[in-house]
Amino acid sequence: MNRSIGIFDSGVGGLTVAREIFSILPGENVVYFGDVGRYPYGGRSEEIITKFTVQDIAFLMEHNVKFIVCSCNSASSVALDEIVDNYDIPVIGVIKPGAQTAVKKTTRGRIGVIGTNATVSSNAYARTIHALNPDIKVFSLACPLFVPLAEEGYIDREATHLIARDYLQTMLDVEVDTLILGCTHYPLLKNVIAEVMGPEVTLIDSGEETARTVLKTLTDASLLNPRAAQIPAPEGDHKFFVSDVPERFAQVATRFLGQVVDKITRVDISRY
Ligand code: DGL
Repeated sequence: MNRSIGIFDSGVGGLTVAREIFSILPGENVVYFGDVGRYPYGGRSEEIITKFTVQDIAFLMEHNVKFIVCSCNSASSVALDEIVDNYDIPVIGVIKPGAQTAVKKTTRGRIGVIGTNATVSSNAYARTIHALNPDIKVFSLACPLFVPLAEEGYIDREATHLIARDYLQTMLDVEVDTLILGCTHYPLLKNVIAEVMGPEVTLIDSGEETARTVLKTLTDASLLNPRAAQIPAPEGDHKFFVSDVPERFAQVATRFLGQVVDKITRVDISRY
């Protein structure tokens, strides 16, 4: 069907997930909402993150979307389970797809999870992994500095390497064999993280895994846009909305999405 897919995040980070969805489902139209006015979510309480998440979803519902992806790991961890049943369209987060893949890929049953403080203290990844296999050992670590580093474009800088080595030593000490990048911003730092963790550790990008889940869910529910069947599929018509000035979003978006984002509209999210 022609209705759009809705994607939301606390800001620009969710574009790493949007990028994967654009690439795997090029014929789909997307409405993206970035809550830049209330970013970041990762250090906030469960109550506030849930309130914001409900408003973000209400905004997307107004656009008559057929499917909603919460690309923010913090919101997916803290808020989603409680509220998904309130909607008559599928609403998915990024935790389950990332956790399922990690469980498939682990070789020695030692999975590391890195994310924001909210994601780590929610224990959502560990819970999901243990529901699939209670014998797996899960080690979680908040790496909040990775978010501003990625956003400021500190991708291959000495400071970033130093911070990554400092943070990730814990993961090396506990000898994880698989590491979940449990935050929208971390795929940008994948090379630095891979360098610190070494070639033996498999990195899981939750965004990539979520895009595959979106494809499967839309296919199974016969919700794919008919244009997706055309070869090559025509480019989708995407719309971007933010809750504060669009300029900074536009600047950073190119790096996160890998393409220029124009036509960004500012909305008052407190109305929802
Ligand atoms: N989008 C958030 C996440 O994936 C990171 C940025 C924030 O803290 O809002 O957890």
